[in-house]
Amino acid sequence: TYVVTDACIRCKYMDCVEVCPVDCFYEGENMLVINPNECIDCGVCEPECPAEAILPDTESGNEKWLELNSTFSAQWPNITRKKDSPADADDYKGKDGKYDAFFS
Ligand code: SF4
Ligand code: F3S
Repeated sequence: TYVVTDACIRCKYMDCVEVCPVDCFYEGENMLVINPNECIDCGVCEPECPAEAILPDTESGNEKWLELNSTFSAQWPNITRKKDSPADADDYKGKDGKYDAFFS
């Protein structure tokens, strides 16, 4: 499966949802997640994300993102169409420490 990582936080460009063939993205206030049970591992979304937030869960260190994607995809609503990104999305692109700011 692929997972959305903290690089998405507050960027939320949503290009990813437009290309997913199985519509397995879920929307939180500050980021999206993928439902790992629905993702068919096609990889199409990975290069579409301007924030490079989408990675395969097989990459080392991505266990915590897999857990986060699993947890929140069960709670958040499905999203299949791109909406407007936050006005300050570009300010957060590539910023470190977004996970701590968001989840603490
Ligand atoms: Fe959707 Fe494919 Fe991305 Fe999985 S890898 S979330 S199926 S576009
Ligand atoms: Fe987030 Fe990238 Fe999608 S910033 S909303 S994972 S296009």
